[in-house]
Amino acid sequence: MITVETVADLRHTVSRWRAAGERVALVPTMGNLHEGHLDLVRKARSLADRVVVSIFVNPLQFGEGEDFATYPRTLIDDSDKLSAAATDLLFTPQVAEMYARPQQEQTRVEVPGLSGLFCGASRPGHFVGVATVVCKLFNMVQPDLALFGEKDFQQLLVIRQMVQDLSIPVTIHGLPTVREVDGLARSSRNGYLSDTERTIAPALYRQLQQTVVGIKRGKHDYAALERQAINRLESEGFTPDYYAIRRAADLAEPGADDTSLVILAAAYLGKARLIDNIQLTLE
Ligand code: PAF
Repeated sequence: MITVETVADLRHTVSRWRAAGERVALVPTMGNLHEGHLDLVRKARSLADRVVVSIFVNPLQFGEGEDFATYPRTLIDDSDKLSAAATDLLFTPQVAEMYARPQQEQTRVEVPGLSGLFCGASRPGHFVGVATVVCKLFNMVQPDLALFGEKDFQQLLVIRQMVQDLSIPVTIHGLPTVREVDGLARSSRNGYLSDTERTIAPALYRQLQQTVVGIKRGKHDYAALERQAINRLESEGFTPDYYAIRRAADLAEPGADDTSLVILAAAYLGKARLIDNIQLTLE
């Protein structure tokens, strides 16, 4: 595995692959890699000739008072895992390489509408930061395909919308959430959970599953189901941020004819902000 820190070195290698007619896949990450990320790398390996992984903790997507400074940075360990997963190139730029000018002067990419909902409402500017850095990575690597986890369902929709609106020639693949045996979605932020919080955390996914059961049994008062779920999560010890049953395609409120839904949830447990979701298709 080659590791490079500059865009010039990255382009030098990728252009040689392109000239040889090879297909390139990109897996953008912020590091502290877990099975969810490695699943993306393995899938990328099966779909392309060359796999590029980026590790960059993107300051633009963190708000004031969020965990940018303390976000786990585990480059040596990550590098070993990526090498074992047959990654071809690891791109680990410094902030100055990605953002040469002061952050407030940086050109930004905004996907209106979607970016203001749910995680975007709780974390203003977050999805502008995500769309901007992902757009830059696409321009730097110019991959044929890029892979993202469905755990960040809203992020995946924002990226798909950006690619469509800006006519970026890349195919986006979303991969199912990888879970611990007790159902907790794998996340770099799970490390923030205390032992006690870790035992409570799987209740978020159990609640999503219970809501699915309710809907499949014919409960269609979604607002009531959302309120019930929030009350249950509070009684388990969570501080819910949002819990919403939405249309999977665009996160709009589902109409009577919508059959493809997603239930999105975010809740604090101590200092960890957990997010999860579940998709369902109505008969
Ligand atoms: O999902 C993440 O890890 C990040 O939001 C991403 C897509 C790598 C952009 O920084």
